[in-house]
Amino acid sequence: YIFKNINLFYFKMKITIIGAGYVGVNTCHNIAIKDIVDDIVLVDINDTVKGKVIDLMQSKFIHNFKTNIHSISDDNYDKCSNSDIIIITCGIARKPGMTREELFTTNYKIVKGVIDKLLQISPNSIFIIVSNPMDKILQMLNNNTNISKNALIGMGNILDTSRFKYHIYQELLNHNMEPSMNITAEVIGLHTDKDMIPLINYAKVDKVFVKGIFTKDILDKIVQDTKNGGATITNLMGTSACYSPAASVTELVECIIHDSKKVLSCSTLLNGEYGIHNKCIGVPVIIGKTGIEKIMNYDLNNEELLKLQK
Ligand code: 2OP
Repeated sequence: YIFKNINLFYFKMKITIIGAGYVGVNTCHNIAIKDIVDDIVLVDINDTVKGKVIDLMQSKFIHNFKTNIHSISDDNYDKCSNSDIIIITCGIARKPGMTREELFTTNYKIVKGVIDKLLQISPNSIFIIVSNPMDKILQMLNNNTNISKNALIGMGNILDTSRFKYHIYQELLNHNMEPSMNITAEVIGLHTDKDMIPLINYAKVDKVFVKGIFTKDILDKIVQDTKNGGATITNLMGTSACYSPAASVTELVECIIHDSKKVLSCSTLLNGEYGIHNKCIGVPVIIGKTGIEKIMNYDLNNEELLKLQK
């Protein structure tokens, strides 16, 4: 039977997730349920990762995924060797009242130590950076490792974009309008409360610009609520968000694995694009099997461009 032969050319797909906190575990669960990879290795310095992985594997026969999940809680990273994608979620999380930037000194040290080890056994992997402050950590990794630029992807704006859509959707509900889920909207810029840029001028519900739907006050509220998205959840939960960050990483992983060439806002090192030099910042990029395949050049107005360049 003809498909049998295809196995000869079948390469196993392996993902490593560093950090078995809420974001790491939920990302693992999401990717497993999608059943798009052969193996996931979940790594944490805390021994509880062993229990988390058994728990996840015991959902296998209910969800019926073929993916196998493995744990590592010591210094032996052999099981991670030749990973196709490595997702970095390790480090400390935001607490109420903290900015993402305050985590830098602690988290960069942790991330850099892990990546130096991983590069010895998985030099050709694509790295997705989730640990905060994401753009700044990404910048340091671009400067201080030899990972190619296309293989270093910062995940922040996919999450910000999903929050932007959520707030547009909520305002449709608040105003008793048809709650269409066909929302086109994008956030670019740094993944920080202050500097992210929800592109309100281009946001649409179905084919209608939101600028034509809501008053200026509501539009400003949508933008502000989006920027405060992470802090709002941190205040309510006592720690940072996990479900939509995990969903965002999963979307990125799917686009890489399926070589989808989809446009997503991701942080990457800019070298002249948008008039910005040697700085990691979130912009629309094309995602495919080699990671970031192209940086899109959006026609931004002056105000938006100045905010991005700031
Ligand atoms: C978030 O935006 C903390 O970056 C994380 O929820």
